[in-house]
Amino acid sequence: MSFLRTASRLAGALVLAALVVWMVHLSYTSKSAGVRPRDPALVKRVQINMGEVLESPLGLDPLPIPEGNPQTREKVALGRLLFFDPRLSVDGTISCASCHNPKLGWSNGLSVAFGVRGQIGKRSAPTVLNAAYSDTLFWDGRAGSLEEQARGPLMNPLEMANTSAGVVATLKAIPHYVKRFEQVFGRPEFGIDEVVAAIAAFERTLLSGNSPFDRYKYGGDTAALSASQVRGMELFRDKAGPNCAKCHRFDDFSADLTDFRFHNIGVGMDHPTPDTGRGAVSQNPEDRGRFRTPTLRNVALTAPYMHDGRFATLEQVLEFYMRGATSNPDLDPEIHRFELTPGQQADLLAFLESFTGTVGTPAGGGKRPPAADAGPAAPMPPPAAPPATPRATPPGAAPAARPAGNPPAGP
Ligand code: HEC
Ligand code: HEC
Repeated sequence: MSFLRTASRLAGALVLAALVVWMVHLSYTSKSAGVRPRDPALVKRVQINMGEVLESPLGLDPLPIPEGNPQTREKVALGRLLFFDPRLSVDGTISCASCHNPKLGWSNGLSVAFGVRGQIGKRSAPTVLNAAYSDTLFWDGRAGSLEEQARGPLMNPLEMANTSAGVVATLKAIPHYVKRFEQVFGRPEFGIDEVVAAIAAFERTLLSGNSPFDRYKYGGDTAALSASQVRGMELFRDKAGPNCAKCHRFDDFSADLTDFRFHNIGVGMDHPTPDTGRGAVSQNPEDRGRFRTPTLRNVALTAPYMHDGRFATLEQVLEFYMRGATSNPDLDPEIHRFELTPGQQADLLAFLESFTGTVGTPAGGGKRPPAADAGPAAPMPPPAAPPATPRATPPGAAPAARPAGNPPAGP
């Protein structure tokens, strides 16, 4: 009896497992039908819109796209214009790109950010590269999505110092924007929700991957790293030594180079009134002095370092970790002192350089989906006619090629 029961349970489980495998297979193949990847062995394909199948760069996971804000090429192009447009700030001087400059690893090269009227902010501007992978944004994780995040700088009195009404009124006074919003969202009215949706859609195309590290680790290119960098990689994950990979994580499939969690490594804890970071957001005493682990992608380009921009070079960052960071009662247990010879330090630093990748822009340069792939209910109708004025750059051109600062290429 009991044997029969076990056997029938086992059979049931097998049928269920087969069903799940079949369903996963079905959903994968139906999404990717009709599009040939560059190299199926190396590239993960990303479902960025119904029917629009694109590839995330080597070393990155498929990109999560929120259901409420599907990617379309037109929306990404609009978001890009907005990102580079200083007219979104209260006095027309500062755009998102002023602080997230493509030439400076999508950061700004400053310890703390400068906003409108030369005002000084409190924290360093992180890169926006691969921010699309994070469920919590800002150093303290106080925003839960890129859409929510984008409202922050627009309204922050120390940054762009505008209001929702101010941003929308400015854009509504520019006929070209009015037309674009209507093309993208399918109705003449728009508000701040549409503005931040478009900006977020653009940011989801700012993906850095395919670095020498990715080509070595995920692309099978053993020549992509030098011998010194390979030794540096071993040190990077040496638990008894530097232990960097504990928080700046990578695995056998992809590398976020962050664990997306909050840690106290003591930065700023030596200040008389420290920035308590996550603690101020969660109001949990355990979170005091914790900040979200930043990604190390393109880290060689995003100096200065830490939430307060205290270190100008990666050498200084490494010295800081070697002496056990800044001791304080809430220091993360994974942080400890370690010693490296000058040669080992050079190896580890050389390895950090290997995270500099190429910025892929899947949606910006997205292929048009075959009509049959568009799905039953494409959420965003395609524009009826091509945009009246040419795009700032041809679709497919990397935004990284944009000039620094606030390019005049707005509509
Ligand atoms: C005056 C400089 C400045 C401007 C302008 C600015 N930012 Fe930022 N940005 C920052 C700083 C500083 C932070 C970190 C603030 C914090 O953590 O408290 C940040 C954080 C971010 C993050 C979070 C990244 C992460 O990994 O958590 C994103 C995304 C971002 N900004 C996008 C934008 C967008 C979109 C705009 C335009 C609407 C914009 N920024 C305008 C300085 C700026
Ligand atoms: C316990 C988790 C943890 C470990 C271990 C760790 N880090 Fe970090 N790392 C962080 C956090 C958190 C920050 C941000 C701290 C802040 O700004 O307050 C950070 C910041 C950085 C930055 C600055 C990045 C930027 O954009 O400002 C670099 C570079 C860095 N770490 C490299 C390393 C290296 C190299 C190692 C190994 C020697 C290492 N980390 C070990 C959690 C960790």
